[in-house]
Parts: sequence; structure tokens; C-alpha cells
Amino acid sequence: MRHFLDLSDAGTAGIQAMLDDAIARKQARAGWPKGKVDADAPLAGHVLAMVFEKNSTRTRVSFDMAIRQLGGTSIVMDAGSMQLGRGETIADTARILSGYCDAIMIRTDDHQKVVDMAKYASVPVINGLTDASHPCQIMADMETILEAGFALPGLKVAWLGDGNNVLASIMEAGGLMGFDVVAACPQGYQPTDEDLARGKGRAKVVGTPQEAAEGADIIVTDTWISMGQAHAETKLAAMMPFQVTEALMAAAKPNAKFLHCLPAHRGEEVVDAVIDGPQSLIWQEAENRLHAQKAVLRWCFGQIG
Ligand code: CP
Ligand code: NVA
Repeated sequence: MRHFLDLSDAGTAGIQAMLDDAIARKQARAGWPKGKVDADAPLAGHVLAMVFEKNSTRTRVSFDMAIRQLGGTSIVMDAGSMQLGRGETIADTARILSGYCDAIMIRTDDHQKVVDMAKYASVPVINGLTDASHPCQIMADMETILEAGFALPGLKVAWLGDGNNVLASIMEAGGLMGFDVVAACPQGYQPTDEDLARGKGRAKVVGTPQEAAEGADIIVTDTWISMGQAHAETKLAAMMPFQVTEALMAAAKPNAKFLHCLPAHRGEEVVDAVIDGPQSLIWQEAENRLHAQKAVLRWCFGQIG
């Protein structure tokens, strides 16, 4: 059974196979209508169950469209309207959904819940974001980086701001695909030692945003207040020196690109001139959630990698 709880579940070869598939399928079906099924309909007859314990726009719509384009269908459930929201356990929910559906995607808070879902499900389980990681996002980020003409090995990726779930998955990607991740985060908001270890020696924290950005190929940031966290003025104040500005972008390589998983808080983690500027790839990055997740689904069903 192939679960995609973190990038390490697929490993270097699996990730490469998924990236190749995502790019090839995207090129093969460019244009309108988005709802057209891919010619080979590789997941025809399959149903993806999606469970959301947190809000989502991109993950929800892109996974729904991904399974449709592969010839399958989906059932989208907000946990609040399920018995899960009234205390039915993850283990029981996993067994019930496995009886009806062919794969489960879940977005939740505690990472242990996706681990438990995978333990008790008899179908593939996909992590659609937890407090610990966001592997599907980083598949789309890597696809976007490749499409921009970069090779992953040897790349310098700079992270500015909160040491959060998205950073943890970028560090894991660096360790698996051979790129360096240099993070600048304020005291108290730095990645854990465990997250740094995911980078297999390629991830580190530096003292200043300038040092992180210097010579970077890719600059990445994310919201300073993740879902489930309290909106704290003290945290916003600590983050402000780590805002991605034009001056910071100027410290990176001249052809450097800017990524953000979205949703963005313009004027907080990034200024308008950067996120809406010529180096920003955010719309392509967001669209690539669709293409990358088609590859994740195909990998989970054993069709690639
Ligand atoms: N980037 C991302 O996961 O977006 P959503 O929260 O809208 O799914
Ligand atoms: N770090 C953010 C990512 C949102 C896609 C969060 O967890 O809310």
C-alpha cells in the first residue's frame, strides 16, 4: 500500500517519477476545457475521499479536478459535517471510508492523525497538510522550479519568516533531491532539530534574512500565522524584519524566482512589488498543485515510480 504522508514515502526516485509525469501530462493537455478527461483516463472508476479539518481553496479544488482529469471522481467532506466532528475516531473513519472509496486525502492539525488514518485504512492515504508538513505543496513547488529552467541538485533555496510545516517539507525535499535550504527565522520561530534533520545536512538556519537571500536561486515565504495558530501581535512584530522585500530579492541571484504556497498576506510576509512582480511564479505554482497531485494520485495507485 502506497501512502503519501511525507515526501520520504516516495523517496528520490518516486519524486522524480512524479515530477516527470506531472510535467508531461500538463504539456499533453494544455488549454480548455479544464474538465476534459485525459485521453488514457488512468483512474477511471476510482473515487477519492477528501476530509478537511481545516480550510482550503487550492488543495480542495486542485485534488477534485486532478481526480476528474484522471477519469475518477471525488467526495469532499468537511469534518464538521461528519461524525468525525462528533468524536468518531480517525481509526474508525479510516475503516469506513476504505469500504467505499479507493483513496483518502486528509487535511488536519495533528500529524499523528494522518499516520493513524494510514494505519487503519486499506486504501492509499494522502497528507493534504498537517501542522508538521505539506508534501503536496512542495511537489508543485519543485515542478514550478523545473519548469522555470532550474535543475534541483545544487540549488540554493532561501526561506524567510516562520519555521513552519511548509518549510519542513521543503527541507525534506532538499535532502531527497539534493538542494540546499537556508532559512532565516526569528528567535522562537525557528525550525525544530527534527525538521532540520529532514534536510540530511543540506538545511540550515542563518542569522539574518540578508544572509539567507544572498546568492539564492529561489526565495520562499509563507503566512506568519498558520491555520490553528492565534493571531499574535508579538509574532507579527518579530517577523517584520523577515518580510520579503525588493531589497531582499536584490540580494539573490539576478534570475532568482519567488514562491509562496498561498494564501498570501500582502504587506506582512511579502510586499506587493515582489509577489506581483516579474520574479514571482505564484500563479504557475498554484496551478501546478493540480498537475503535481495528478502524479501523486498515480504514484499512490502504483501507476508510476
Ligand atoms: N497552498 C495551499 O495548500 O492552499 P489551500 O490552503 O487553499 O489549500
Ligand atoms: N503554513 C500554512 C500553509 C497554508 C497552505 C498553514 O499551515 O496554515
